Amino acid sequence: PVIYFVTPTYPRREQIPELTRLAHTLLHVPRLHWLVANDRDRCDKFLDNMLNKFGIPFTYLASPMPSKFRNTKPAPRGVANRRAALQWLHQRNLTAGVLYFGDDDNTYDLRLFSEIRQTQRVSMFPVGLIAEYAVSGPVVRNGKVVAFLDSWVAGRRWPVDMAGFAVNLAYMSQYPNVNMPFKPGYEEDLFLRSIGLRIDQIEPKGNNCTEILVWHTQTKNKKSPTVRIDSALLNDRFNLGAL
Ligand code: UGA
Ligand code: MN
Repeated sequence: PVIYFVTPTYPRREQIPELTRLAHTLLHVPRLHWLVANDRDRCDKFLDNMLNKFGIPFTYLASPMPSKFRNTKPAPRGVANRRAALQWLHQRNLTAGVLYFGDDDNTYDLRLFSEIRQTQRVSMFPVGLIAEYAVSGPVVRNGKVVAFLDSWVAGRRWPVDMAGFAVNLAYMSQYPNVNMPFKPGYEEDLFLRSIGLRIDQIEPKGNNCTEILVWHTQTKNKKSPTVRIDSALLNDRFNLGAL
């Protein structure tokens, strides 16, 4: 099966290096379709050119966060983007393949891809460098998921990170109300609730969830400069992307 790797991304000065690094990981992965969903109102030539050059099969979607959420704290990051990707899959009636939500700043071990490709319904696995415990993931006993370890459970039925699960599209297509609401912190839980998951159905990956194959790395970010600079001129000379 094809892996549909959904990457929400947004314009900031780290965007180009993040996507370059991620592309260089994905270039090692066969049978993968990269859905890059940018948090802005239209596709831009620069990113389109860049994605074309990698040679990875991709689709570039533009899906901005609705303006009413822009200034809420926390904001629902990457949700409009992932919803656009879900809609893209739905519109094409794609019922073969495996869906994975891979943020632009995480770090992926190549073994992750062969693990998630085998997903029959929903697979889960630990994610490294998450919050206080430094790991978030399922607890497995006798080959079955029985509980979850996460430093922020917050009443969630599925206290997992976005990078900690994969879904088979044939399974997902049985649930017409699949949804990811704009609810910061609860996106994973509500998405997984919308596909009628039962704990005994979860397929643990990564050697019964003992191996970390994806890390929630974060690039130190710099705010945009407060001084006025001629960004058009800079963009003309360097591939800076958004400043
Ligand atoms: C954590 C989780 O790992 C994410 O899966 C979850 O979406 C996010 O929290 C959240 O719910 O806010 P974190 O590293 O804190 O991730 O968030 P970011 O990496 O900043 O953003 C998640 C994704 O959304 C990234 O791929 C990022 O490029 C994108 N994003 C972020 C946007 O599209 N727009 C934004 O304004 C911010
Ligand atoms: Mn992140």
